[in-house]
This record gives sequence, structure tokens and C-alpha cells, in this order.
Amino acid sequence: MIRLGVLLSGSGTNLQAILDALEAGVLDASVELVVSSRPDAYGLKRAEAAGIPTLALTRKSYDDPVAADEHIARALKQAGVDYVVMAGYMRRVRAPLLAAFPQRIVNIHPALLPSFVGAHAIADAFAYGVKLTGVTVHLANEDYDKGPIIAQRAVVIEEGDTLETLEQKIHSIEHVLYPEVLQLLAQGRVSIGNDGRVAIR
Ligand code: GAR
Repeated sequence: MIRLGVLLSGSGTNLQAILDALEAGVLDASVELVVSSRPDAYGLKRAEAAGIPTLALTRKSYDDPVAADEHIARALKQAGVDYVVMAGYMRRVRAPLLAAFPQRIVNIHPALLPSFVGAHAIADAFAYGVKLTGVTVHLANEDYDKGPIIAQRAVVIEEGDTLETLEQKIHSIEHVLYPEVLQLLAQGRVSIGNDGRVAIR
């Protein structure tokens, strides 16, 4: 049983997938706090509907991104969070948050890292014309979309796929993979070797 804090910036379908996994009894965890980098993120509504406390920051809060992360880290600690789950959180995490949760911040990215980092990975992969892309879950570090990889799943881009169909395929994989990886964390099955690589047992 692990206590999660979820960071998001947008619609929160990954948060919803996590909440659905909790409801279904396939994830031994709880969500203690949802933090949004934007006050208008739909993910906040999903959290409220599930009765989960929220913290909404504004663009202005990030004028000093380190102070913003100090604020977030304090709130997550007060909520008793063990693991921080970035679910469409479109901000880099800074030293105060990384120090408060060493090797305990995970991120999901809609591409096979290290390819197609950034905020438009699905569109970038589609525009490039790759035939294979996918989803990555990794531990976060100070570089956006970098850090030791925990799990990846491939998605084939087929003839006839459009950006929209590719987005649907990627999101439906995300919604399965993220709860699965969180369950591995809950079971204590994820470790990092001295070589910096993640092992799962
Ligand atoms: C997800 O596809 C996630 O992988 C992506 O944002 C989306 C959020 O969707 N994250 C990144 O691109 C991080 N670089 P959601 O708000 O519906 O969960």
C-alpha cells in the first residue's frame, strides 16, 4: 500500500485510470493529493469528484519555479505522500521536489524515450514518420522527460493511422501501463542498480 500524490496540468485521463484501478482493487495505493500547475485543468475536477484534496498553482506561481516546487513538496509531505506521480504534468521538477522524494517521482511520456521528448511527443513522432512509437514510464530527474526507465510499451504506426488514431492508441496503452507500474512500486518490486538502470523482480 503506497500513498500517491499526482501532479498534472491537463485533462487528467491518466489520473482517472489510476482512480479506476484503485476502485477496481488492482492497485494497492491511495491518492492523497492532486496538484495542478494550472487552475483550469480538468484533472482537478476529476480529483474533486473522487473526494481527493487538490492544490492548484497558477502560471505566476512558477515565476520562481524553485519556490513553486518547495510549496508543492511541502504540501505532498503534509499529505503523507510516498510517491509522486507525474500524469501530464508539463513542468520540470526542480531540486526541492527531487530532494524531498529521491527516486520516488515517476513520469509517463507518450513516446519511446529517449526519442521525442517534450510536450508534443505523439505529434512529433507522427510527423517524423516513425513506424514504431510507444509509451515510457520513468523516474524523473531535473531534465524534462529523462531519468531511469521503468517500463516501455510499443505502439505500431500503421498505414491509415492518423494523428488522432495514434493518440487514441497511445492513451489507451498509457491507461493500462501506468497503473501496472504503480502496482509494481506498491509491491516493492522496482529497484535501481548502481549502474543507474532499473530492475524489476
Ligand atoms: C499524456 O499523454 C502524457 O503521457 C503526456 O501528457 C498527456 C496527459 O494526458 N505527458 C507528456 O507529454 C510529458 N512530457 P492526461 O492529462 O489526460 O493524463
